[in-house]
Amino acid sequence: MALKSPAEIEQMRPAGRFVASVLTSLRAYAQVGMTTNDLDAHARDLIAQAGARSVYLGYHPSFGAMPYPGVLCTSVNDHALHGLPSDRVLADGDVVSIDFACEVEGWVADSALTFQLGTTTPQAQALITATEQALAAGIAAAQPNARMGDISAAIGRVARQTGFALNTDFGGHGVGRTMHEDPHVANDGRPGTGIRLKPGTVIAIEPWLMAGGSDYVIDDDGWTIRSADGALTAHAEHTVAITKRGPVVLTARD
Ligand code: MF3
Ligand code: CO
Repeated sequence: MALKSPAEIEQMRPAGRFVASVLTSLRAYAQVGMTTNDLDAHARDLIAQAGARSVYLGYHPSFGAMPYPGVLCTSVNDHALHGLPSDRVLADGDVVSIDFACEVEGWVADSALTFQLGTTTPQAQALITATEQALAAGIAAAQPNARMGDISAAIGRVARQTGFALNTDFGGHGVGRTMHEDPHVANDGRPGTGIRLKPGTVIAIEPWLMAGGSDYVIDDDGWTIRSADGALTAHAEHTVAITKRGPVVLTARD
C-alpha cells in the first residue's frame, strides 16, 4: 500500500474540492419530478466544464453485467449502493444517495451523501443522521498511528447505538491515482486490530446503514444493491488523508 507524501496530499486537494462541489450542486439541483439520469447529466456538465475525468464511466469490474453507464451512483430508497442512473422519476420524500468519484489533475477523490427530497420523515432523517454519525466517528478514529480496526469499530459502534442494521460487505478503500486501492476499510471491527494508520494513508470511509434487516440483494444488472426487505438505506462517504496532525477530509463540503 503506497503512502502519499504531504506534497501529494496537497495535490489531491483539487480533486477533493471538485467532488465536494459537485455533490453540493447536485443536492441543490435535485427536484421532485426529475429523473436520476437528469442528475447524472448535470454532473457530466460540471465534469466537462472543469476538465475533469469520470472514473465511473466505463468502469467494468467482473461483477458488473455491463460497463458502468454513468458518472454517478444514484441509489434511491431501498437501493443502497451502485444504483445506475435511469429514467426513474424522483418523488417527494425519496431518500436519495449520490456517490461520486472523479479524477482531477491525476488524482481521484470519492464521496457520497444521502438526503431526503421534499417532505422529510422522522424515520428517514434518523437513518441519514445515524449514517453521517457513523462516518464522523470513523473519521475521528482515523488518527496517525491508530489502527484500521479503530475506524471500523467506531462505525460499527454507531450502528449499534442507533439501532440501524449494518452489513459489512462493501466497505471503504484506499484512494489515490485510482479509485480503489489498498487497504480495505471494513464497516465493523475490533479496536486495536488491523494495519497501522501511518501518516500518508488516504482512504475513503463509507458506512451504509439499513432501516430494516441487514440482508441485501443484487439486481440482474450486477450493480444495484438493494435491501432484501425493501427498507430504506443510506450511505455517506468522504476521502480522508491521515496526516501527522490528524485526519484531513479532502471532500469536505462547506
Ligand atoms: N464510488 C463507489 C465506492 O465508493 C464505487 C462506485 S463503482 C462505479 O467505492 F462503478 F460506479 F464506479
Ligand atoms: Co468509495
